[in-house]
Amino acid sequence: MRQSVLLRRVLLLGLFFVVLPFFLIMMLNLPSTNSKSEWDEFGRESSGLVKNGHTGDSHKLNVIEEDTEGIVYKEETLRTPDWYLTVEHTEKFGINKVSVEVYKGIREKIWEMEDQLIMARAYLQFAPPNSSNSHLVKELKLRIKEIQRLLAHTTANYHLSRSALQKIRQMEATLFRAQAAYPDCSAMASKLRAMTSNTEEQLRAQQKQASYLTQVVARTMPKGLHCFSLSLISEYFRMDAEKRVLPRGHLVEDPDLYHYAVFSDNVLACSVVVNSTICNSKEPDKIVFHIITDSQNFPTMSAWFLLNPPTPATIQIEAIENLKNLPSNFSSSFKFHGIQDLRFTSPLNYLRFYLPQIFPFLSKVLLLDHDVVVRKDLGELWQVDMEGNVNLAVEACDNTGYSFNRIKTILNFSEPVMASNFDGDTCIWAFGMNLFNLDEWRRHDLTDSFHKWLQLGKERQLWSGGTLPIGQMVFYNHTIALDRSWHLFGLGQPNFRLVSEHELEKAAVLHYNGNRKPWLEISIPRYKVYWKKYLNYNNSFLLRCNIHE
Ligand SMILES: *[C@@H]1O[C@H](CO)[C@@H](O)[C@H](O)[C@H]1NC(C)=O
Ligand SMILES: *[C@@H]1O[C@H](CO)[C@@H](O)[C@H](O)[C@H]1NC(C)=O
Ligand SMILES: *[C@@H]1O[C@H](CO)[C@@H](O)[C@H](O)[C@H]1NC(C)=O
Ligand SMILES: *[C@@H]1O[C@H](CO)[C@@H](O)[C@H](O)[C@H]1NC(C)=O
Ligand SMILES: *[C@@H]1O[C@H](CO)[C@@H](O)[C@H](O)[C@H]1NC(C)=O
Ligand SMILES: *[C@@H]1O[C@H](CO)[C@@H](O)[C@H](O)[C@H]1NC(C)=O
Repeated sequence: MRQSVLLRRVLLLGLFFVVLPFFLIMMLNLPSTNSKSEWDEFGRESSGLVKNGHTGDSHKLNVIEEDTEGIVYKEETLRTPDWYLTVEHTEKFGINKVSVEVYKGIREKIWEMEDQLIMARAYLQFAPPNSSNSHLVKELKLRIKEIQRLLAHTTANYHLSRSALQKIRQMEATLFRAQAAYPDCSAMASKLRAMTSNTEEQLRAQQKQASYLTQVVARTMPKGLHCFSLSLISEYFRMDAEKRVLPRGHLVEDPDLYHYAVFSDNVLACSVVVNSTICNSKEPDKIVFHIITDSQNFPTMSAWFLLNPPTPATIQIEAIENLKNLPSNFSSSFKFHGIQDLRFTSPLNYLRFYLPQIFPFLSKVLLLDHDVVVRKDLGELWQVDMEGNVNLAVEACDNTGYSFNRIKTILNFSEPVMASNFDGDTCIWAFGMNLFNLDEWRRHDLTDSFHKWLQLGKERQLWSGGTLPIGQMVFYNHTIALDRSWHLFGLGQPNFRLVSEHELEKAAVLHYNGNRKPWLEISIPRYKVYWKKYLNYNNSFLLRCNIHE
């Protein structure tokens, strides 16, 4: 008996100290594994800031030399916690050099600070009131403030000063003292018990789920969202098999309905996409959603939509592993030399190039990224005359004659094969909301074209990563532009231009591409309001996991 209690504590503490920091790390690492048209893919939009002479503090623009081509500017465009991209360009000729620079050790320090904050907050929570350790409590509070400030500064600038390192060491010392002062962690264990609630029972009852859980933790997101995911899994496995069936299944392949596809591993994001589409539809009963996720997230996703069916619409949840008609080596096809970022290699991101194979029964499908919110009826899109094109999309050019947002900025035109196939001044169009004509796609065999470019991309440096550049090649000559008010993107980018209220209100679809996703704490409040409107924060799972507005 005693032993089993002990075992449980060890298990819980293990969960806390190993798993929590781990998914925090993952949170930094992957704001989302499935943000398909990622912020960096649209990073160039932020160059607008430079043109107007406003350089944000993280946006460095330096004149590096003046040569025959005029002044050469060096500019940091894309940033991740690991590296940043600098672009050299001249006013007249646009980009002439792109290089990647790597930060050293910053990411590790960010992790360390995140961990310290968790530990310090935990100790604070378990400190008895009015204890003889009140000086320690004060110290912890002070250190937390310091580290918070430092963390914010570091994540914004990727720079750590000598005094910052000293602060981290001071926190370390304080935590060490706290550990000595609160050796009895039983209170901690019982608090954690509440937090993980029935997960623990599940864990013990069904050993098999353990591997599920670790994978879910690893692949999903911060804090509450993690608890949310786990609770839904428990719910799913508690349901009888016959209850695990979504309603209206007979309509899933009905070609007379409007079909929407979302490829995602994030249940909250999907919930908002589905709910907002349906809330704003004039004919919600004619909508069929196809959510494709991975097998780790399948139970979560299913449980959520079983409990919150998007009536009167139809919904289908499918795991990528169960899709037929994909090439047998599909999931191993997207490893590129030197690229480890999951956003660029996750098979879910590349599913978009197999739409005709996934939906053999359809002639049109509307693809939505999971980081969008729909604010208008999209039914009209099906009536647009696509003039024999395959892809209906909004373009990213601003028609000022500036070279940004042209395909030559994301494809490597030093390669002859590029110049001989494409006009570099072609406007980039955006992923996020695209209507695809699958009949035309099949007629031109664009999936085959995708395979060819993919193969060539593995042999030579044709583009830098993500699905946007290869998309520009595959759908070249097969894309028709849609009015920009249909799809407003860039809302998750730290350096995006200021979007007017008018533009936000007018847009049919808001797209939070960028790493400041609306479900993360680092989201941009002004844009998040449009997203959170479609999430019921009173839902018992959200309440239980402390996910609030
Ligand atoms: C804790 O301290 C405060 C003031 O420092 C006092 O008002 C309160 O009664 C104390 N509580 C206990 C339980 O000793
Ligand atoms: C996948 O299979 C196709 C043909 O079956 C082949 O051309 C391609 O190189 C394979 N890809 C990988 C990554 O093995
Ligand atoms: C695009 O269309 C033009 C004009 O019809 C044609 O010359 C060109 O070969 C096409 N390019 C590709 C890559 O299909
Ligand atoms: C572009 O292609 C050229 C020629 O093949 C190659 O030397 C260069 O490294 C490539 N540039 C990038 C940024 O990939
Ligand atoms: C969907 O959005 C509506 C409107 O904002 C909201 O009232 C409702 O609670 C949402 N449903 C879910 C399942 O979140
Ligand atoms: C959520 O529940 C609280 C208390 O039950 C209620 O006051 C509040 O209006 C609810 N909010 C929504 C959005 O339903």
